[in-house]
Amino acid sequence: MSYVNKEVIKNKTLKEFMEVLVFENKESGSLYAAQVIANKVLMNNSVNEETVLGLATGSTPTDMYKALIEINKSGVSFSRIITYNLDEYYPMKKSSPHSYHYYMYDHFFQHVDIHEENIFIPNGEIKNEDLSKFCEEYELSIRRNGGIDIQVLGLGLNGHIGFNEPGFSMDSLTQKVTLSDTTRTAAVKYFGKKEEVPFQAISMGISTILSADHIMMMAWGNEKAEIVKESIEGQLSKDVPGTYLQTHKNVTIILDAESASKLDNDRISLIESKLS
Ligand code: GLP
Repeated sequence: MSYVNKEVIKNKTLKEFMEVLVFENKESGSLYAAQVIANKVLMNNSVNEETVLGLATGSTPTDMYKALIEINKSGVSFSRIITYNLDEYYPMKKSSPHSYHYYMYDHFFQHVDIHEENIFIPNGEIKNEDLSKFCEEYELSIRRNGGIDIQVLGLGLNGHIGFNEPGFSMDSLTQKVTLSDTTRTAAVKYFGKKEEVPFQAISMGISTILSADHIMMMAWGNEKAEIVKESIEGQLSKDVPGTYLQTHKNVTIILDAESASKLDNDRISLIESKLS
């Protein structure tokens, strides 16, 4: 079932579904995100139900993973968590330190009691001819597990979510995508040289993301302030995939003071400030 509200798109009265929370810094915002996840997990664990999470990589969620590891150590079991990652470079060896596969084990999975069989990450090693089948199966697998309860997102400098670059339509599903020059340039900090950054990736689609029950998008720092503003306050546009979030009924935007700094004053007044 999709939670995209078509009425809302038509009337362009979009923003009332968005909860925008501004925290002092990345650490406190990340702790809040981890607590939202932990509460969901605790609730589902108490009735022996799985919690299905959509997970992101990049620099944005690193502190959230740290906080989740602590929460797991403190006794909240993650043995009933099922995870689907947003994206993976293509082609990409799982063992490469540049792979999102590697990132996820390094930052999160190897430190918690999640079961290996509950971890789903787009496979950057899949043969090109098997790729569309793989993507279809990824979608089916999410649905078989009842859909995503909480989707964690970062925001690309050009407004991409997952690797859904400007121009992508709202009904896109998991697929092979071509990375924009902005995205490849932003990835140089991880790969060292631009020539090393892959040209393609496998990404969950916009529609896949918008089908989650709850979306939590985080963004930190001045660098993201302009694109945060465009995504939250701008007109719905495929030039800024982040604006698609305005159409979802249950979105929480988690910011620090810097990434929230360009939001309009009238918008700011709607923000529940978490600044101390
Ligand atoms: C990356 C990932 C996204 C991520 C975004 C922001 O390229 N594909 O899933 O959310 O871009 O990255 P960062 O968190 O490093 O700013």
